[in-house]
Amino acid sequence: MNNRRNWLKQTSLGIVGLGIIPFESFAVPTTENIFEEKDINLIRLRSNENPYGPSPLARKAFADNVNISNRYNWDVATRLIADLAKRNSVKDENILLGAGSTEILDLVAKLVSQDKGHEPKVNGSANYVIADPSYDYWTVTLDYLGLTKIKVPLTTDKKINLQAMLEAVNQDTKLVYICNPNNPTGTICEREALVECVTRISQNTIVLIDEAYLDFTKQQSLSNIVNDHKNIIIVKTFSKIYGLAGARIGYAIANKTIIDKLANSQSNTNNSVSVVSKLAAIASLKDDKFVSNCYILNENARQYTINELQKLNCECISSNTNFIYFSLAKYNKDYFKQLENNNIEGGRIYEEQGKWTRITVGKMNEMKQFIKALE
Ligand SMILES: Cc1ncc(COP(=O)(O)O)c(C=O)c1O
Repeated sequence: MNNRRNWLKQTSLGIVGLGIIPFESFAVPTTENIFEEKDINLIRLRSNENPYGPSPLARKAFADNVNISNRYNWDVATRLIADLAKRNSVKDENILLGAGSTEILDLVAKLVSQDKGHEPKVNGSANYVIADPSYDYWTVTLDYLGLTKIKVPLTTDKKINLQAMLEAVNQDTKLVYICNPNNPTGTICEREALVECVTRISQNTIVLIDEAYLDFTKQQSLSNIVNDHKNIIIVKTFSKIYGLAGARIGYAIANKTIIDKLANSQSNTNNSVSVVSKLAAIASLKDDKFVSNCYILNENARQYTINELQKLNCECISSNTNFIYFSLAKYNKDYFKQLENNNIEGGRIYEEQGKWTRITVGKMNEMKQFIKALE
């Protein structure tokens, strides 16, 4: 046996030496675990990922299609767009794909900063309006492109204050960003109130509704109003309930004029997402069973965690997402030390010098370990 192995080794080395590389040498699968030893038991409750994903159909699509990664296969984008248009009751021309919703957010930032050089009318600078706290990682791009940030505090029950957002808008406002449900608080604006709010904003201001977590609710998307409201952009992602965060797929829904403008700053329109990821997304859309299972598992683990946090004197905000916003004001240990000692990666701190923090809802056993770590 050993001899045979040596012979094979020598023969293939010989072939390589002659410059002839046997096809089989490419076909040998090698797997590499990217996680270091210490990370294997790490409980990841920081980035609002889906602990169950990708869905079985998406996994199959990845596996079945990895061999066509040598080809560009641009036409796959057309198929995914058609499926997304159907699902969101819009036309294909209303959809733009991005490498995660982050790419779409960047494209919006570029779009709204294009005319920032126009003569300022009120505060001396083009600006954007955002709730505080809200999802603001991506707004560094807006800041870099020279827009001034106008932060609007939440209501006392940690909801986005739509009335105050409206009042903050002025003639130099290029963008109003509404994350619904809101990250990090998990609160939601009711659809009717949101529609009423966006209707009152001038058509010259882009209204960006981020629906990254809407799949964790029963509320209907605002996608069906994009053709009546020319200034609205909806941004959605496969990173959350579909469990494809690392595959990087997101998309915008807007009227054709805006989609075309966004596409102008994306060199290979709709094709920054890999073909394999797109095929996994197409498969995910068919996996309704996986999505409804994740919905229920998330709800159960979330309810368990909220109940237990309350027993530990932590005030929790009612959540419409896969994370929980809660207060550490009455928790009597060093919360972050407890997480660190128990190999748990938690969220950062928000508001009132760390009084409020956020935790992602993982699997039930992970949430039990999280609670045990705090007790
Ligand atoms: C509200 C919100 N929007 C957008 C994103 C970006 O997600 P992705 O680029 O993975 O689609 C996130 C990520 O956590 C998020 O919380």
